[in-house]
Amino acid sequence: MDLLVVGSGFFGLTVAERAAEAGRRVTVIDRREHIGGNAYSENDPETGIEVHRYGAHLFHTSNPTVWEYVNRFTDFTDYQHRVYTNHAGVVYSMPINLGTINQFFRASHSPAEARALIRELAGEFDVKEAANLEEKAIALIGRPLYEAFIRDYTAKQWQTDPKNLPASVISRLPVRYNYDNRYFNDTWEGLPRDGYTAWIERMADHPNIDVKLGVDFFDSAQALNKGASVGQVPIVYTGPLDRYFDFAEGELSWRTLDFETEVLQLADFQGTPVMNYADADIPYTRIHEFKHFHPERADRYPTDKTVIMREYSRFASRQDEPYYPVNTADDRAMLLAYREHAKGERDVHFGGRLGTYQYLDMHMAIGAALSMWHNEIA
Ligand code: FDA
Repeated sequence: MDLLVVGSGFFGLTVAERAAEAGRRVTVIDRREHIGGNAYSENDPETGIEVHRYGAHLFHTSNPTVWEYVNRFTDFTDYQHRVYTNHAGVVYSMPINLGTINQFFRASHSPAEARALIRELAGEFDVKEAANLEEKAIALIGRPLYEAFIRDYTAKQWQTDPKNLPASVISRLPVRYNYDNRYFNDTWEGLPRDGYTAWIERMADHPNIDVKLGVDFFDSAQALNKGASVGQVPIVYTGPLDRYFDFAEGELSWRTLDFETEVLQLADFQGTPVMNYADADIPYTRIHEFKHFHPERADRYPTDKTVIMREYSRFASRQDEPYYPVNTADDRAMLLAYREHAKGERDVHFGGRLGTYQYLDMHMAIGAALSMWHNEIA
């Protein structure tokens, strides 16, 4: 073995694939029973509908190197992501756009009129002096739209009143003064035609790559554990940074999600892939309906059944899946201390969203892994 990769998410698999192509013998371990990390998907056994087990994954990028690279393993459909939100029993399009504004205010404002209205409403607070998330959001979009679409949704995501969240949680709240409700602005967007797992398996399908599942790097009963491997072979580590150092500086905080998946005996539950629920009286933040991610599979998917998934957000404990970094001032101080520890680890490269404690979209994880391969390992 020339390289040990801990974690088979997009970061680990990208480094493994590049190294294998360059003639290195690579072993990839993952503590889960499947490869692909959080992008893993599987077909629901009752309906055959592809379900993203760790939350909906939409691929988008403006990075030509990443786009060329991912197309070696999969074709993409022409799926374009759009999100709607239910507030007080009425459905609006997101991100907030001229359609949302005119529907909400029961008006027919032109772009200039809507811009003037939002500017006037936003005058209640100054962005630079906002003391908390609520004041900043009001300074950006005004109180009525904040209270309808941001306040309770944010409180559900963070289990915290936005008055008690730092203003830094949001940098901007996009408002579009036209009717464009495409969610992403990237050059390329789509979903892997044969599903995420087929894509991921093609990346790992190389004679120089050996994948071992159900292997935890910190399990001393495993041959490829930390104690036995560090210093013996170059390592790319994509698990949690604090866990690697046995939480010596404390635990980095994360939010996690709980998913409630249900098969309904219905052709169509909500008519769209994602519906947000903006209000406090509904405990979940959104519902995904997976058949709508792949309209091109209509001839394969059942016409009398559908799979939906409700998503709930909360703070993670050590046993939970870490999904989104909370990133408090304490977390950032801890992160700097862990980075100092990491510099002292001989031939261990820390990468990916867990190994660097940052939210990374798939294209960012793949781009960062390609850079690590070129700059640090190759
Ligand atoms: P990832 O978490 O995928 O992989 C890490 C792997 O390491 C896991 O398989 C884990 O089991 C393994 N591991 C950890 N500790 C270990 C140990 N001790 N021993 C062995 N193995 C260990 N992106 C995007 O572009 N569009 C989207 O729509 C979404 N949606 C989305 C929703 C949700 C809810 C989340 C949390 C994330 C997204 N993402 C996304 C981001 C996407 O999931 C992310 O970019 C990739 O997962 C990053 O890949 P990594 O390899 O860094 O981590």
